[in-house]
Amino acid sequence: MSLILGIETSCDETAAAVVEDGLVVRSNVIASQHALHERYRGVVPEIASRAHLEKISPVIHEALGEASVTLDDIDAVAVGNRPGLIGSLLVGVAAAKALAWSLSKPLIGVDHVRAHLYAGLMGTDADATRDVSSAFPALGLVVSGGHTSLYALDSPTDLRLLGRTIDDAVGEAYDKAAVILGIDYPGGPNLDKLAKTGDASAVDPLPRSLLDPESLDFSYSGMKTALLYRVRGKPQGRGKGATFERSCDDLSEDAQRDLAAAFQEAAIDTLIAKLERAIDHMTASGTPPRTLLVGGGVSANSLLRTRAKQLGETRGIDVRLPAMSLCLDNAAMIAGLAYELFKQNQFDDLTLPAVATVSG
Ligand code: KG4
Ligand code: ZN
Repeated sequence: MSLILGIETSCDETAAAVVEDGLVVRSNVIASQHALHERYRGVVPEIASRAHLEKISPVIHEALGEASVTLDDIDAVAVGNRPGLIGSLLVGVAAAKALAWSLSKPLIGVDHVRAHLYAGLMGTDADATRDVSSAFPALGLVVSGGHTSLYALDSPTDLRLLGRTIDDAVGEAYDKAAVILGIDYPGGPNLDKLAKTGDASAVDPLPRSLLDPESLDFSYSGMKTALLYRVRGKPQGRGKGATFERSCDDLSEDAQRDLAAAFQEAAIDTLIAKLERAIDHMTASGTPPRTLLVGGGVSANSLLRTRAKQLGETRGIDVRLPAMSLCLDNAAMIAGLAYELFKQNQFDDLTLPAVATVSG
């Protein structure tokens, strides 16, 4: 049995977890910084890195305590070292290096985006006997505040990018749409909740941008701008100096709900349409996916979860959605994917960098 301590500080959650053999989550501690960023309606990088510094030690301590283990029981220390906010990543990377060095245990750097895809494979004790390799080849969709990407996966560590957003990420579009509609921070989850009370058919549909017929890329900026004009009217002037006929305060509660539902439908329709295309694409290339792995903050979305399961049923594909506690940024997924690298003796040394950008 191998126990891996995972550390994750790429954005605004300080997280640590202990995972057994890649699949059994023994502890999963997340200290959210939402309260610190709320008044700015978005994450302020300097505030985030300072809060990580304050929280990292107590969070690691708590993760070990909840798992009823000590540092001596740990077989390796894993850290999400890319991509993310550089100041935030550096805190986790420095903590992981210090622990690995002082304990003489292996250090494993993990790609945060790839780890999101591993989250759907993790679960309870009963699931831990599952043979992870039987899930592949798989189609992966990462949907978060920074990413909207499709991957073809031959294994958890062997993947190829099929398409990505050419402008906003879907989570970012949710957050911006929430601001346009006057919905409180955190926008994505609150918009999802409100959309369930609205009627999308009560308003004209918002445009779905599917790009070229073959394209597996995404575009969300047109949908967001269409919503802005719907709420505030056509702008006078351009850029920051533009003025609008109305503000979101002029929206009735009914209109706010219905527009939230219309946005939710358009956003998720687009994801499902691209998943359909990607399944066709993988099938045509001779590797039809056995599994659909969905990860990232937006995988908590109620409509996406329902529609992805329906898609799996109609296309005969097993759909693995992360447990709600593994959708948002967390360290369990970091320790989970690290186990695959651990088995392959893929360790890092103390030169492991924090890298802001996404890997290829
Ligand atoms: O993966 P994550 O925690 O952080 C990033 O790596 O970005 O994802 C956060 C994103 C935010 O944009 C948030 O608004 C969105 O996920 N999100 C949701 C929902 N829950 C979180 N978007 C739509 N519906 C939700 N239920
Ligand atoms: Zn994330």
